[in-house]
This record gives sequence, C-alpha cells and structure tokens, in this order.
Amino acid sequence: MTVTSVANNGSAYFPNEPKGPSVKTSTIPGPKGKAAIEEISQVHDIGAVKFPVDYEKSVGNYLVDADGNVLLDVYSQIATIPVGYNNPTLLEAAKSDEAAIAMMNRPALGNYPPKNWATMAQEGAIDFAPKGQKYVYYQMSGSDANEVAYKLAMLYRFNNLPRVNGDFTEEEKTTCMNNSSPGSPEVAVLSFRHGFHGRLFGSLSTTRSKPVHKIGMPAFHWPQAHFPALKYPLEKYTTENQAEEDRCIEEVEHILNTHHCPIAACIVEPIQSEGGDNHASNEFFHKLQATLKKHNVLFIVDEVQTGMGSTGAMWAHEHWNLPTPPDMVTFSKKFQAAGVYYHDKNLRPHAYQHFNTWMGDPLRAIQAKYIAKEIREKDLLQNVKTVGDFVYTSLEKLAEKHPGKINNIRGKGKGTFIAWDCESSAARDAFVGRMKMNGINIGGCGVAAIRLRPMLVFQQHHAEILLSKIDELI
Ligand SMILES: Cc1ncc(COP(=O)(O)O)c(C=O)c1O
Repeated sequence: MTVTSVANNGSAYFPNEPKGPSVKTSTIPGPKGKAAIEEISQVHDIGAVKFPVDYEKSVGNYLVDADGNVLLDVYSQIATIPVGYNNPTLLEAAKSDEAAIAMMNRPALGNYPPKNWATMAQEGAIDFAPKGQKYVYYQMSGSDANEVAYKLAMLYRFNNLPRVNGDFTEEEKTTCMNNSSPGSPEVAVLSFRHGFHGRLFGSLSTTRSKPVHKIGMPAFHWPQAHFPALKYPLEKYTTENQAEEDRCIEEVEHILNTHHCPIAACIVEPIQSEGGDNHASNEFFHKLQATLKKHNVLFIVDEVQTGMGSTGAMWAHEHWNLPTPPDMVTFSKKFQAAGVYYHDKNLRPHAYQHFNTWMGDPLRAIQAKYIAKEIREKDLLQNVKTVGDFVYTSLEKLAEKHPGKINNIRGKGKGTFIAWDCESSAARDAFVGRMKMNGINIGGCGVAAIRLRPMLVFQQHHAEILLSKIDELI
C-alpha cells in the first residue's frame, strides 16, 4: 500500500521532513519489524510492543519503522517527544563537551554535585518553572516524581509534629524499624477516579485509570474522589457541569473531614490524560485549592503529561490563574528529565530522609535546557496555540459531517491537547489500526477516546494531513 503524499506548504521547522506519510507493507510491523520483534523477544518482554522504529531515519514529526514505513506521529512516544525526532539543536548539544562529560561521569548528585550544578539546575529547570515555583528535585520518571512529592508531603507533616527538643522520639525510631506507628505513621494521599499517576508502590495507589495497572499489586488504603464528568458541548451544559463540579468538591471536603487517617496531600492532573482526557473548569481547580488549604493538605499538580507546552502554555495549570502557586508540580515526559517543583524550602526534609544514588541526572538537565531554548527561540507555544485552534475547529466540522463518530470534542483553547470519543472502545481501536495502516501513528486513552499528542513542532501542513485522514477513515 502506498499512501499519497500531501504537499509540505508551510514554513517547516524541519525542511528535511518527508512530504507526507508512506506505508509500503501490508501490515505494521511488516516482515522486518516482525523479525526484529522476534529477536527482541529473546532478551526482552515484547508484550506491549507496537512496532520497532528506525530512530536514525526518523525526523521531525515523522517516525520511520523497521520496514521503512513513514508515519506522521501524533502520539510522540506516549506524549514525550517535545521538539521532533533528531532535532538538529538537540543533536548538536549532545555532541558538546558539556554533554559528553555529564554523560560519562554521572555523579551521585546528592553527595557530589558538579560545582556548577546551581547554574545547570537553574537553566535546566528553574528558568522555565511554573509561575511561583523556585526549587526542584530531579527524579527518574513520572511515577518516581509523584512518589517523591508524596514523600515530601508526608515528611513535612511528620517532621513538624510537636516534639520535646524537636528531635524524633526513641519510640518513633524503634517503631519505624518494624513498619509500625508512630515511626511509620498511617497517612494518605487523596487522588481522583480515572486519574493516572504512575506505577510504583505509592503512585500506583493513587492511579485509578484501568484495572490492568493495579491488579495483583498490594495498595495503600487511600481515598479517591470523583473527578467531574463534564457534558459536551460545555456551552450547552453550564448548569449541569457546575453542579457536577460542586458535587466533586463537596466529596473532597467530606473525605478530608472523615477519612480514617490524616491526608498529607492531594494530587490531580490538569487534564486526566490516561483516564480519557477528562477536563474540569478553572473554577473547579480554584475551589479544590481553597478546600485543600482550609484542611492544611498539600496540593500536588501532576504535569507529567500536560507540561512543557502542549496545551499552549508551558504548564497546563497556568491556564487556571490560581491566586497562589500549587505546593508542588511534578513533571517528566516532554521535559525528558523528571522531578518535582516546589516553592517552600520547608518541604526539604532532613538529609537522607529523601535520598537515592543519582538524585537526577545532569545530562537530562542539559537536554531540558536545550528543549526549553528550542521552545523559546522557535516560538513553539504560539505554534501550538495556532495549530491547536485550527485542529479543534476543523474537528468540529468533521464531527458534523460524520454524525455519531466524533463525540465530545475537548481541549478548546488548550493547544493541541485535543481528544474526542468514538462510538465504542472497539470502534476506537479499529480506527487507530486504520490510521496506522494509512501512515498516522495515533493513540487512544480512557474507554473510547482518541487523544492527540503531537510534538510542539506539529504545524498546519501536518494538521491538514491528519485531518484529511480522519475524514477518510473515521
Ligand atoms: C499524568 C501522569 N503522571 C504520571 C505518569 C507516570 O509516568 P512514568 O510512566 O514516566 O512513570 C504518567 C504516565 O503516563 C502520566 O501520564
């Protein structure tokens, strides 16, 4: 099968990008991809492999698979590629002495940071931090970032308990060695139904998106509140949606008043991503913050998937205009480094209460610095806004043209962070399959949703290809 290419008519960020997708094999993976999977299976778990990729040949918004098929990628390695495959600025940075030295001399940062680590962390995180955030803990992954945010909240609470002489008690020191209270106190993190915060032990207990993520694993007995289930189009259901959001806030209040143990923190995604691209209004998040403040519960915003530009703002929660910054903001994915932003130095626990060997990676801080530079210099936030608006309005037209096929479009004014529901889960999966065979790598989420997660370098001419394929294959 050969897919007709569409003219590249914009001023492209990647002049050497293919003109459009092209699929040559009758399946993806094709014969070479299948052979590669067979080889990989000898050494690695292939249970979730979709198809092997030729990363040398992939460029900009286009992924090239092992068989030479060229796919327009609007899924971007589960929303993680910020500025295109083989971005020349990043490749050049990778060749620098700065990057080579950081890569080949990876330090135990908590003990032996590079002498210029303050500058590296400033340029690699703080310079583009969410408004009001001043400090950073680097971590390894999104799950790990959330785990650390929970730990910081719990340790903050524990360390500030009233004690004689301020030191931990002998009882606390002995009981923690037996995993029992008061040294290992029972304390919880509140999360929302359909939220996803990762798969490590603490983060998994706050993840509520699909049974397959959790089944078979022990979990903390932590509470969950409903996340608003809004009706679309939003303009038509303002009264119902407001009532729904109020109901969820009342539930949060009820949980905070009645849970069997203290709640140290509440975590929420600005847009519940894995759980189906579920949105809530700015007012909902204002009310949530106020409720948490009233109960002295720390507010963690999980920007692992929404952060670094894809909603048209560097950080999705900046759309809310909160009166004060959240206590912590976690990040990963497009940032390439992972971690936690915070603004109150009192959240730093005693030395070694939170620690691991690497405590981050200077190489990833360098990478993040260059990603942020690319975003700034190429004005990519503006690009995301403009292209996002174009995609959103075009999808509305397609929804009218194909009644019942493109439902509950969401993400208006949120850049390219756009999603819609298919008629059913099976219809969604079949559509994803057809798109792939026609040169578009696209992803789903939740029960029956399609989510768009293109890179920040996704332009009008790419959007036109995407939209024409949706029109043809929905
Ligand atoms: C909102 C959110 N939080 C946390 C995570 C976990 O990140 P990781 O898979 O890097 O551990 C994800 C991953 O999809 C996510 O979307």
